[in-house]
Amino acid sequence: MSSLALLHASQLLTLAGPKRPRVGKELSELGIIRDGGMLIRDGKIDMVGPSDQIEKSLTALGHQVPEGGKNVEIVDLGGRVALPGFVDAHTHLVFGGNRLDDFERRTRGETYEQIAKAGGGIWSTVEKTRVANEEELFEFTKKRLDWFLECGTTTIEAKSGYGLTVEDELKILRVVRRLNDETPLEIVSTFLGAHAIRRETSTDKYVELVINEMLPRVVKERLAEFCDVFCERGYFDLEQSRKILMAAKKLGLKLRGHVDQLTNSGGAKLMADVGAMTADHLEKTDGGGIAALKSAKVQPVLLPGSVYALGSTSYPRAREMIGAGLAVVLATDFNPGSSPTPSMPMVLSLACTQMKMSPAEAISAATTNAAYSLNRGDKIGSLEAGKLANVAVFDCEDYRELAYWFGIPQTHSVYLRGRRT
Ligand code: NIG
Ligand code: FE
Repeated sequence: MSSLALLHASQLLTLAGPKRPRVGKELSELGIIRDGGMLIRDGKIDMVGPSDQIEKSLTALGHQVPEGGKNVEIVDLGGRVALPGFVDAHTHLVFGGNRLDDFERRTRGETYEQIAKAGGGIWSTVEKTRVANEEELFEFTKKRLDWFLECGTTTIEAKSGYGLTVEDELKILRVVRRLNDETPLEIVSTFLGAHAIRRETSTDKYVELVINEMLPRVVKERLAEFCDVFCERGYFDLEQSRKILMAAKKLGLKLRGHVDQLTNSGGAKLMADVGAMTADHLEKTDGGGIAALKSAKVQPVLLPGSVYALGSTSYPRAREMIGAGLAVVLATDFNPGSSPTPSMPMVLSLACTQMKMSPAEAISAATTNAAYSLNRGDKIGSLEAGKLANVAVFDCEDYRELAYWFGIPQTHSVYLRGRRT
């Protein structure tokens, strides 16, 4: 049995609390232990508490403190902040190429929709993703995973959606599966076949393909836990989105959805109707949509990185959502078009400065609430006995510094299942 003790965090943010997603005031309760420490055994957390208590237990077990002993390593965190690794609950992780041309067009004032019409947008990434084979996509994405780790993220949700043929969608999901199997990060897979359509195909025909061919293959090959759709003007309308989501639900997938991002199309209500786990984006969602999410207990996943990178000011109404009792989640939306950032600390900064969330609320939304939104709240998202030892340590003394300083990396070290990466 191998053990690791992490000692002397200035603040150990345990996020200990109710075994369900946090709402209201609970979002501000980080369960902070000053001069905190933890004992990890075989990748899981065994004990969390003040460092002197952990040290006493170690001494009682016959270990020398601070040197350690047989089968126990002791690490002094040197007065830094430690918290559960970030859980990034919304990314488009696997894609080919980049969207530098779109980026430059936006600097000239063109909108996301105008750029898509002019041959950029999602479709241009689809072309670059299709020409890459599985091996190439795997190698390319594996390098990107280091970016996430460098930002303190230990779990990533990853969507398909840049293939849009049966074989290309399956190829992306196989890459996701390999990344999960062959790297230390946990990667949760979501099928997003309904991300865009080719202009020359009718959307209804494409919806049939998603329902009759893609979904059954994805489920048969156990390639995804969730199904997502892009419900938006010019993409999939409410009825098409509902059809896909209901078909996915019947096959046993859980549901997420890109809704009300560019227009308030009633997407939040749709996600409530179909019993989704999450409704993502919500930049244009109004009070009615918020009430629907509340009554169906759907978690909103807010993606301020995409609002920022698109040069918009239309941030989702986070304060109203928190006031209504929604269990908000924050994520990066990492993708080459609307949100080219893997950085959860950057997202925390945007959540605080642009959406007026407090630093504590933002951290709860990026850890424990995100874990529940991926159906993993019992294993990750907080530092409590029995959970996986996924820990991010930052070079600061006060957790608020995570959202306060921006544009500089503060990550000191990251542990995945008790192993330093
Ligand atoms: O979440 N809105 C749809 N999907 C992505 C953007 C994908 C892209 O532009 O490549 C999003 O913003
Ligand atoms: Fe997205």
